Amino acid sequence: MAIDIRWDKRFEVGHLRIDHEHQVFLDLIRSVSLASEAEEPKAWCMRLLNEVRKYADFHFFSEENIMLRNGYPDYPEHQQKHTELLTLLDDRIHAYAIDRINLEAVVVFMFDWFAMHTTKLDKKFGKYLDGHNE
Ligand SMILES: [Fe+2]
Repeated sequence: MAIDIRWDKRFEVGHLRIDHEHQVFLDLIRSVSLASEAEEPKAWCMRLLNEVRKYADFHFFSEENIMLRNGYPDYPEHQQKHTELLTLLDDRIHAYAIDRINLEAVVVFMFDWFAMHTTKLDKKFGKYLDGHNE
């Protein structure tokens, strides 16, 4: 059964760049979901997963720079969370690569993670930025 992955207002953090990057990020997860439904070749699916992985890395770094520039006090905790998420993502991609889990399981993980992370931690940062916007 497929999950409907699309942008929703509830994901909005209120910072233009972050929201923009989150939309791209979600779009990449959606591409993996569509590839899973269409049962595209594994080599291609791995490329799409690597695209998500690289973008996650970029996005986290970019978000961390916005935090540093704005003197965000919860930066260490948030940065730690980013590191943990990348490790979890690597584990899931690896598990898929060696056929321990299917692609849909990776999609569910990525979407939950996106929804949970953006709606909780990133929104907290968005709130902080309301008073400190660059
Ligand atoms: Fe984020």
